[in-house]
Amino acid sequence: MSEARTIVIGNEKGGAGKSTIATHLVTALLHGGARVGVIDLDLRQQSTARFFSNRRTWLEAAKVSAPTPGEYRLSDDDAALAKADAGEGLARFEDAYGRALAETDFVLIDTPGSDTPLSRAAHGRADLVVTPMNDSFVDFDMLGQVDPVTLELIKPSIYSETVWEARKTKMAQARTSMDWVVLRNRLATTEARNRKRVEERMTALSRRVGFRMGPGLRDRVIYRELFPFGLTIADLSPTVRPVPVSLQHVAARQELRALMRALGLSAYSGEGGLAAAGA
Ligand SMILES: Nc1ncnc2c1ncn2[C@@H]1O[C@H](COP(=O)(O)OP(=O)(O)OP(=O)(O)O)[C@@H](O)[C@H]1O
Ligand SMILES: [Mg+2]
Repeated sequence: MSEARTIVIGNEKGGAGKSTIATHLVTALLHGGARVGVIDLDLRQQSTARFFSNRRTWLEAAKVSAPTPGEYRLSDDDAALAKADAGEGLARFEDAYGRALAETDFVLIDTPGSDTPLSRAAHGRADLVVTPMNDSFVDFDMLGQVDPVTLELIKPSIYSETVWEARKTKMAQARTSMDWVVLRNRLATTEARNRKRVEERMTALSRRVGFRMGPGLRDRVIYRELFPFGLTIADLSPTVRPVPVSLQHVAARQELRALMRALGLSAYSGEGGLAAAGA
């Protein structure tokens, strides 16, 4: 049996959509029949960990079943671990990661919106890094610096360097390469001019620092309103339907499928759950 694939969701910019993408990818993979292990390295916020604990509670209360991932916690008290020395956190990560690798097909790691030793360690293990970013030059700044007058690309910036370092670590330790996909998140319908400019700079940057552009996700209520239930659009079905189904959901499912395809995960595109929802 081959070793699990490690997918790291990262961007040192806060609020870019990492935890949203993480929970959507995990649920889609689960519905595609994969065994998935989840590690949430955002020890302070624990959004992804909370999502899956909400999921267990909701499924139990609603008396319905849906696939759940293995949850690999670093400690029972992550807030305290966040304050402990880095070595302690890293040792616990190695332990949780090792168990997840042995027991699952995919290890999904959500990271905090800042540069931490844990986040770097995870990036150094990634087979695939997925980076969501808001469609704005403020977020673009984490990937590349743009000339304030001409808006031309000057150089890659801090997060690109983090991924670059991680690539070197991965190659040196595991002798395998890393795929890096950047996708724009929370796309609005009204910002055509800004979007085009960001897209041009992204294309230029992607060639310089070696990432691929993935299909973006629009800003949709459905991407956030199922969080308290620990569910995503990949879960919705005639029996799992805490909100009324609308055309928005159909469009969101198509976006999620397109993302899975771009990430090379179409074998697990969650079609079972998506089709069963009757969209
Ligand atoms: N495509 C989207 N449509 C609508 N809302 C979204 C979308 N993506 C993310 N959000 C919302 O934006 C906010 C930030 O998203 P999220 O928590 O996933 O980002 P993050 O990168 O994990 O943030 P942090 O760096 O703080 O961990 C949340 O309120 C989330 O529900
Ligand atoms: Mg998060």
